[in-house]
Amino acid sequence: MGCFFACSGDSNKKKRSENPNHNPKDIINSNFKNKAQDRTSSTAAADDSAAKQQLDSRRDVNGRKEEPREVVVPSSDARVSGVTDVTVEGNTSSSKARTFTYQELVDATDNFRSGFLGQGGFGKVYKGRILDTNEVVAIKQLDRNGLQGIREFVVEVLTLSLADHPNLVKLIGYCAEGEQRLLVYEYMPLGSLETHLHDLRSKQKALDWNARMKIAAGAARGLEYLHDKMKPPVIYRDLKCSNILLDEGYHSKLSDFGLAKVGPVGDNTHVSTRVMGTYGYCAPDYAMTGQLTFKSDIYSFGVVLLELITGRKAIDSTKDGREQNLVAWARPMFKDRRKFCQMADPALQGQYPSRGLYQALAIAAMCVQEQPNTRPFIADVVTALNYLASQIYDPSQTRNPHHRRTPSSSNVKQDSSNSKKSEAEESQSENDSED
Ligand SMILES: Nc1ncnc2c1ncn2[C@@H]1O[C@H](COP(=O)(O)OP(=O)(O)OP(=O)(O)O)[C@@H](O)[C@H]1O
Ligand SMILES: [Mg+2]
Repeated sequence: MGCFFACSGDSNKKKRSENPNHNPKDIINSNFKNKAQDRTSSTAAADDSAAKQQLDSRRDVNGRKEEPREVVVPSSDARVSGVTDVTVEGNTSSSKARTFTYQELVDATDNFRSGFLGQGGFGKVYKGRILDTNEVVAIKQLDRNGLQGIREFVVEVLTLSLADHPNLVKLIGYCAEGEQRLLVYEYMPLGSLETHLHDLRSKQKALDWNARMKIAAGAARGLEYLHDKMKPPVIYRDLKCSNILLDEGYHSKLSDFGLAKVGPVGDNTHVSTRVMGTYGYCAPDYAMTGQLTFKSDIYSFGVVLLELITGRKAIDSTKDGREQNLVAWARPMFKDRRKFCQMADPALQGQYPSRGLYQALAIAAMCVQEQPNTRPFIADVVTALNYLASQIYDPSQTRNPHHRRTPSSSNVKQDSSNSKKSEAEESQSENDSED
């Protein structure tokens, strides 16, 4: 059977236009039936374990990197200054980030005393307000004793100041004064996806199905922009829930481009790098060989999608054995559709469309395949997820026999043009007959 994602062959440069099939339903259904079933979980576990060995050497127990991150712009720093090398389709006048003085950022944050938002490998992040424009921003301050360095700072500025897409977080500017390195981003009021999916605070409402599909589709569009629209194309390399930030209405944007790498050029299919990324999201092929391809990002995207569907973490050391690794846990279940409802996040309380769950799992299964060349291209993932996100699920109009709970309202405003009363009912009856 054919592969309806453009996943056959080994070229990462194959474009969406070469893919003969763009019907989202065909893309989703055909792939799952044919591909998700012919993979064994034993090889998956072997790959995962090899990958873990590679990554473990670079991480402490908290999963944080122990070594500085690798330089991400090819060959030399000379390239860093050559910002005009990177362009975007249809956008020759690249937007330049503003430079801030350190004092302006001190003033914006009350001398970094208020608005602490979180901390990552780069340093601390603060909410602030730029006095002259009154703009609310998020300011990341490089920790000089931290795990990431000046080169990541440069790559972040370089990549984001040239990128311009609604699903990439906007870099407003930066400060490089003396030893200080700070990045100024648009403020994302709902924070990171991770805080909405894992370790919810007591009164925090779980994301509903529609919000999850909207977030997934948005993140996929951001990745598509990096892979297919930027010239040269960019491999993101650090796709994970904490790097997906959320705007009002669960509009998702990718953030953190310090690890981004210009993709292979000419006839090359990969870029050779030191293995970097985050354990649990890193493709086994990349972890084992150091050969980075666009399909490495697709694997990471599949892990994020699985997290959205299941509510489980990519790596959860509080669980037993195989359950610690989300992909190793999910792979055997992909083969048995009777297990699909067990894979849905219990926090959804059964409020999801059965067919939508099946289709979302189909996409995730394709993305996390062991062989990179059998993973789909991002353009096809976008087509499939845009379709899924457009199928607004209304819990008040269906009852899932697997869970009988009182329906609650949707996080995402319903688009009446896409609302289909019969969708969940139809998918339910289809699933019932298939079972
Ligand atoms: N633009 C932003 N708007 C709002 N909150 C933000 C913004 N950028 C970052 N944050 C918050 O700051 C936290 C830390 O972000 P940061 O990117 O530094 O670390 P991380 O993603 O958790 O880890 P890593 O360094 O591995 O990427 C995020 O989890 C998020 O809650
Ligand atoms: Mg981050």
